[in-house]
Order: sequence, then structure tokens, then C-alpha cells
Amino acid sequence: MAFWNRRKSIDAMHAPHDEARDGPRLKATLSWPHLMALGVGAIVGTGILTLIGVGAGLAGPAVMISFAMAGLVCACAALAYAELSTMMPAAGSAYTYSYAVLGELIAWIVGWSLILEYSLVVSAVAVGWSGYAVGFLSGLGLDLPTALSVGPHVAGGFINLPAAFIIAVVTGLLLLGTRESANLNAVLVVIKVVALIVFVAIALPAFNPDHFRPFMPNGFGAPFAQTGVMAAAAIIFFAFYGFDAISTAAEETKKPERDLAIGIVGSMLICTVLYLVVAAAAIGARPTSAFAASPEPLALILRELGQGVAAQWIAASAVVALPTVLLAFLFGQSRIFLGMARDGLLPKRLAKISSRGVPAVVTIFTALVVAALAGVMRLDELASLANAGTLAAFAAVGVCLIVLRLRDPDRPRKFKAPLWWLVGAITIIGCVVFFLSLQARTQFWFLIWNLVGLAIYFVWSSKNARLAQPGQPGA
Ligand code: ALA
Repeated sequence: MAFWNRRKSIDAMHAPHDEARDGPRLKATLSWPHLMALGVGAIVGTGILTLIGVGAGLAGPAVMISFAMAGLVCACAALAYAELSTMMPAAGSAYTYSYAVLGELIAWIVGWSLILEYSLVVSAVAVGWSGYAVGFLSGLGLDLPTALSVGPHVAGGFINLPAAFIIAVVTGLLLLGTRESANLNAVLVVIKVVALIVFVAIALPAFNPDHFRPFMPNGFGAPFAQTGVMAAAAIIFFAFYGFDAISTAAEETKKPERDLAIGIVGSMLICTVLYLVVAAAAIGARPTSAFAASPEPLALILRELGQGVAAQWIAASAVVALPTVLLAFLFGQSRIFLGMARDGLLPKRLAKISSRGVPAVVTIFTALVVAALAGVMRLDELASLANAGTLAAFAAVGVCLIVLRLRDPDRPRKFKAPLWWLVGAITIIGCVVFFLSLQARTQFWFLIWNLVGLAIYFVWSSKNARLAQPGQPGA
């Protein structure tokens, strides 16, 4: 079959579980509260803890609008994910939905973009972790040398060793076969959320409305503006994703058709409300210029309010709880790679499963690359490039939602996105506008990444694809 005709069959995804081929079926033990915890666990991370400062630097107090816009686009993407993941529950990612709906070439671009996203999220969150860890140690009187605790972009900096260190630790855990445990995850989610609530409780009494004037010092910013509300929204977008991790737990969910939708949409809503309150409390407590450049803005704000103990508590919570985001994304990365390798689009050798059930080669290789990047690159650049990959994947999910509704309106949908055309349109337009609002450098590197990807696809993958072999079921 020619590559432009190759699509996965949705019906084949609903075939009964084949134990001989896929191993024993996972036990269905999760319901929507677990899924919500899983979602909030993967969402709340460096975005709200650190990038809030970067966003405030770009937009001033109007970063509140950036948060609302990013939240709206992600909520729509979440609804699209909820509909598609309940239709294709065994699969669980934008790559697979695209393969079934838009064909192999688009699926390749989406999968390749997801590999970029998942890898760079790990680097970015590790840099965010490092900021809080270094601040925490300093609060204990243990000052790490600047040269070894930040990258070369900061005066006196050389390499961010703590960021590389935490990636090494999480990789070690993954190689040992650690999976996100629903119970441990729930505890860490509570730690993170309580830390944010404590922050709000302390910062709100210091609220000063003067800090909101001027509200929009850098303007709204059209696409390509590089500063203003839109540029901030394009980077703050980072704070909202991670809910897609929930769709990977479909097989372990008791009532996937109901629980997946509640988990995905619910975790998004909780985070959006929480973020808006945290952003308002932060800006009310200190002028945005005071924390815009900080590697640990929330802790800094509390310290400047004279609340050193609470600042230490926030930092400690970040140090303890952020690694779950790393675990979720590093694991997700290997899963996407594995999925693409199973489909014959990437070499199966690289995705070989170790005796502990982990694709060790790809995990170690990814870890080395992302640790090196975390060691020397700026947080905002890492996050922007991760966002570019995610925006491509989310836009594709929006397109899949609309195309499938038009092409196959009668196919049973266990969860139906309300106002699907509007939800799809906001997702697609929002992602395109955010992409255009990213730094020009980010757009350039994203293009290069995908050109390399396309070269690999046409030279190797399109010939080795499973659906290219005779007798394979396509749509
Ligand atoms: N949303 C995740 C974070 O902010 C990626 O860390």
C-alpha cells in the first residue's frame, strides 16, 4: 500500500486482547479519582513553579490572560483527547489517533514531534527541579558553586549538574522497572497541591492591587511578536499539558468510557483554576519584575514576604514531587518510541525490552541526550521547543476529532465532546497561533527536527512500516 493510503484500522484496535501476542491483560483497578490524580500529577510541575516567572517577564501582570488562554486551548484539546481515547482506548496517544484518522505520514510527524516533546519536557522539568533544589540546599546553608549549578547562559555558570543528576536518578528508577504507582502518585499530588495552596494562603494577605498596574506593559502581541501576552501564553502552555498521560492508562481503567473523560477533563479544570489563583496571588504579592528572572519564583516571593520557612517548604515539595513529572514523561517517551517501533516505523532493535520489561536502549539513549541538554540549555528555550512538539500533536488531535466526526459520524462514541466543531476549531487555531507566537529560534529548530524526521521516514520508515508489508490490515 502506498504511504499516503496507509491508515490503521480503528476496528482492529477493538479486537479482543491477544495474550499470546501482547502478554497478560493488565488488571482494571483504576477509576476516575485515580485518573484525575494521575493527570494532576503529570500536569503540575515546572510550568506553574518556574515558568510563571518567564511568562510574567514577557507579559507583566497580564500573564493572567496568558494562563486563561493556554488553559482554554488545552481544555479543548483535552475534550478532543477524551473523545478519541475512549474510541481507541488501547492505544492512547496522538500518534495512534493520527495513524488511524490522518494516515501514516501525518502520524509520523506527530510521533516524531511527540518524541521531541517528551524528551525536552524531561530536560525542562529537570532544570526547574534544579532551581528549587539549589535554593533549598542554600536555605540549609549548603551553597553549590554557581559554575556547577546553572548552565553557561548565566554569568559564572558552566553546567547544571543537579538537573543532570535528577535525570540520572529517574532513569535508574525506570530501568529498575518502576512504574508510576497510583498510590505513591496520589501522595505526591497531594504534596504538590498543598504546597500551591499554602503559597496562596500566605501570598494573598499581602495582595496589593497596585502590582497589577500597568497591566499589559508589553502589549498583547501578535504572532511573531516575541513578547507580550501571546508570547507568554505560548510558553505558559507548558504548564497545562500532561493530561494525555491519562489516556495511556486506558487498559487499567474499570469504566474507560466514563472515567477517562472525567479524569482528563477534570484534571485540566482543577489545574486551570489552581493556576489562575496562584498567578493572581503571586502578582498581588510582589511586582512581576521582582520574580520574573528567578529560577524558583514562588519560593522567592515567600522569602521576600519574610516567610523563609514556608519558602523552604515549597522548595522541599518541589524537590520531592517534581520527579513524578519526569518519570511520567520519560516513560511516555519510551512508550511512543515503542509504539512506533511496533508499527515498523523505527528500528525494533532500539526498542528491545529488557528482562525488567523496559525498553532499556532507547531509555538510556534518551536520558543521556536530555541530561546533556538540561546541563547547558536555558529553561525557556527547552520548554518552548517542547511546546512546539506538543502544539503539533494537539493540533493533529483537533483535526482528527473533526475529520472523524465528518467521515464516520455513526461510529459509537462513548464520550462525545460537546460542540465538537468549536472544540476542534479552538484546538487547531489556538495551537497554530501559539506556535507562531513562539520564539523564531524555536520555530527554526522545530523545522530542522522535522526535516530530519522526514528524511528518516522516506529513507527507512516508509519502506519498513508494518502496513507496507503485504497482507496487513489497514483501514
Ligand atoms: N505540565 C508539566 C509541567 O509544568 C509539563 O511541568
